[in-house]
This record gives sequence, structure tokens and C-alpha cells, in this order.
Amino acid sequence: MRLWGFSALAALSALACLVGRANADLKGVFAHYMVGSMGSSDEAVKDVQDAKAMGLDAFALNVQDVSSGWSTSAIQMLFDAAATNDFKLFFSFDMAVLDQPSTFLPLFRQYQSNPAYYYHDNRPFVSTFDGGAKSFGASSPNAGWQSQFKDALASSGINPFFVPDFDDYGGATYDDAFFSNYPVVDGVFSWEAAWPQESEGIANVSSAKDQVAIQASHATGKVYMMPLSSLQFKHIDGGQNWYRRGELNLPQRIGQVLEVQPDFVEIITWNDSGESHYIGNCWPEAIAGAPAIQAYSNGFDHTAWQAVLAPFINAYKNGAKSISAVTPFGEFAGAFWYRTLLASASCSGDSLGRPDGAENAQDLINIAVLLPANTSGVTMNVYSGGNLVATLPTTAGLNIAAVDIKTGSQKVDLVDSAGSIMGSGSSTVDVAADTSGVCNFNYQVIHIA
Ligand SMILES: *[C@@H]1O[C@H](CO)[C@@H](O)[C@H](O)[C@H]1NC(C)=O
Ligand SMILES: *[C@@H]1O[C@H](CO)[C@@H](O)[C@H](O)[C@H]1NC(C)=O
Ligand SMILES: *[C@@H]1O[C@H](CO)[C@@H](O)[C@H](O)[C@H]1NC(C)=O
Repeated sequence: MRLWGFSALAALSALACLVGRANADLKGVFAHYMVGSMGSSDEAVKDVQDAKAMGLDAFALNVQDVSSGWSTSAIQMLFDAAATNDFKLFFSFDMAVLDQPSTFLPLFRQYQSNPAYYYHDNRPFVSTFDGGAKSFGASSPNAGWQSQFKDALASSGINPFFVPDFDDYGGATYDDAFFSNYPVVDGVFSWEAAWPQESEGIANVSSAKDQVAIQASHATGKVYMMPLSSLQFKHIDGGQNWYRRGELNLPQRIGQVLEVQPDFVEIITWNDSGESHYIGNCWPEAIAGAPAIQAYSNGFDHTAWQAVLAPFINAYKNGAKSISAVTPFGEFAGAFWYRTLLASASCSGDSLGRPDGAENAQDLINIAVLLPANTSGVTMNVYSGGNLVATLPTTAGLNIAAVDIKTGSQKVDLVDSAGSIMGSGSSTVDVAADTSGVCNFNYQVIHIA
């Protein structure tokens, strides 16, 4: 019987009040959310509801501005939306932009008591982007964070659970030396481990740094938050024009999360259209002042990745250790994604030219398909440039595949053992060999439905 009577519910909520936030689970899954100007509270509500529907626990709100009206009103709309939809939020202070903790302490004090603020171990969760090299006038970054952040809050009885991304601290990994030099942290988040570096060439993402970080963090009783992302493509100006491999990065990283078994996972990102790794909506006014970003993100919807991520989140929370256990909610789920330009494109009409790292791109249709435990005889039929180019077998769980892409239209069909099409997805934008316009290495993500 899975029905709850009224009294059981009442007892549960009484218990919830008593326990408060003390027993928040590990295995929270979050998405990094760029706070920018927000046109209306409807957008906040839609983002929160979409995120909750795919099984996310919270948004990590990237805050770069603690006082301008566009920022504080977006934050308030998001907290209102989260509170009414039983969703959570925590701050990820962007220390590449903010000077010092005293800048953001008032905002944090204000919201840490909000019912929608995310707590772990009875403590309000706080993360950062960078900040591992800033000392704020103290003798070391650790001393600076201790005095200006933790001690400054302790006087008001606030004890944040601090899981920063300190990738700028100067070391190659979060090893034992890091944890002995940074006792101020309660755990770490390793932003850069989400993709291979450009300098690695045509390499797949590695979990070597995650393995070091989880061992060293657990050895000191701390937590490890692992990043999960799709790609990086930024094409804004001469200093911000790069490609970090997308290809199969996302599903390969899903497999690594299940092997590493981190305490928390943060998806990079919900809505950073500037770096092309969004999985949620990008609202028009957020990038209204950024025509360069519009030029490579408008019409490049990534929400189909949610169809793959939602069953993954469920599997991770239920203890799955490998991709074979990532099964769909129904008969199948899936997406494929591709770049609309071949890697050899000259992009001679684009003043920014080809992105750094373009030579690491591969001309592939990348596919992730989820099938149930009792699946049998299903094939993935891949069409590129109008022709059937591959018929691939499948197995239970997450199937990861890539097939050489040709110019023109793209399609993937899922065909059952009787020869019937169970699901299908078709490209909305053709692949071209070159362009006189924007040198766009962003991905088209197509839902197989
Ligand atoms: C993310 O969404 C929020 C809410 O609409 C918006 O304020 C922000 O600018 C968006 N960021 C990007 C990069 O689109
Ligand atoms: C990356 O992963 C794909 C899929 O498993 C594999 O075919 C390819 O050989 C790998 N590439 C490298 C450079 O290891
Ligand atoms: C697979 O199992 C599900 C229940 O988990 C069932 O509904 C479905 O009919 C089964 N499919 C096959 C091909 O046996």
C-alpha cells in the first residue's frame, strides 16, 4: 500500500517540522543558473517547474551583482517561485566578479532563512565560481574565507555548508594537500573537470581528477560535488572564442558520475547561453543586450537533453553504479545532437574566425538512447544527408553512439524487433560544409520521441 492517510501525512509533516532541515540527503543534483535580468515572474516559475519535473533538487544561483535591481528582483522572483513549487535554491557567488565576502554577506543573510533556501546537514549550502586564490587581506585564501565569511556569520549563528569551486587555487587537483591548506571548506566542486581541456586534443572527458577529489575529500570527512556538462562554445569577441568538446561528453560524463558516486552533482548549466552548455530555457531579454550570443543560441534549443538527464538523476539517486542501470521512465527516451557546420569550415566571413579548439571537433551525430531492462532487438537507424548510414544494436540502459555526419538533414529512428518505428527525431537545421555567416559550433539537440 502506498496510499497515505491524512493522519500519516499530518504525522509526517509534524516530523518534518521537528527534524527541520537536519537530515537533508546526500545525492542532491543541482543546475548552475546564471542570474540575469528577468522579464517576468512567469519565467522564474517555468524554470523552477521544469527543473523540478526533471528531478533537480535546486538551482545554484550564480550571483555576480548583489545590489542592482535587475539582479535582486530576479533573485526574489526565483525564491518566490521556488517556495510555491517546493523547489530549492542556493547561492554560488561568482568570485571572478565579486571582490570579497562582505559584498555578498547581506544578500546571503537575507535569503539563508528563506524556506526555499537549500540546506544540507542543517546548514545553508553555499558554493562559488573561483575564489581559491583570493585572501581578502588575510594571510592566505583559507584565512580570508575563514575570517570574512565563516567567522563573520558565526556571530549571528549562521554556519554555512561551504562547497566552493576553487579551481583557481593553483593546484592541478583537489588532493590531500588542498584539503590540508583549505580546512575552511566543507567540500569542493571541480568546475573544469566537466570537459577535456582544449590542449588535450581529440580526447574524451576523463574522471581522473574526480577520482582524486573524492578520495581526498572523503579522507577528511568532506564532500565532493561533481560537474556534469555537455560542451563549451563561446563566440563573443577575440578573447572569448573557443570550443571545448561536446560530442559524447554528456553521456560519457553520466557514466563517470555513476562510477565515481559523488555526494552531489551540479549540471553546468541551466541557462548559460554565452557558453552554450544550457539545458533549460534561455529567455530573450536575458540576452537582449548580447547580439553576439543571440547569433549562436537563438534556434539552438537544448531542452531535449532533459529527456536523458531526468532518468539519469533518478538512477543516480537510486544507487545505480553504471549506465546499464539508467533506464527510461517509459519504453524509451533519447536525444541526438550535432553541429550544423563541419569542423573544416573556413568561416571566412566571420570576423572572429574559427573558435580555438575547433580542430578538436569531430563531424558526428551523437546519440544517447535509454531502453528498459527487458529490451530486446531494438536498433538505432541513423540517416545522414538523406541516406541510412548506420543500423546500430542496443542494450538495456544508456546507449551511447556516434556516427560520421554528412551535410544535409539528419534523422535517428528507434526500430523495435518487429520492424516498427518506436521513436524518431529529425534535424531542424541542415549541416553545411561552410558558412559566410557566424562560425557556429553550438549543438542542435533533437528529441527522439
Ligand atoms: C538565465 O535566466 C535568467 C532568468 O531569465 C536570466 O536572468 C539570465 O540572464 C539567463 N542567463 C542567460 C545567460 O541566458
Ligand atoms: C572517445 O570515446 C568514443 C566512444 O567510446 C571512442 O569511440 C573513441 O575512440 C574515444 N576517443 C578517444 C580519443 O579515446
Ligand atoms: C517490459 O517490462 C515492462 C514493465 O516493466 C512491461 O510493461 C513491458 O511490456 C515489457 N516489455 C517487454 C517487451 O517484455
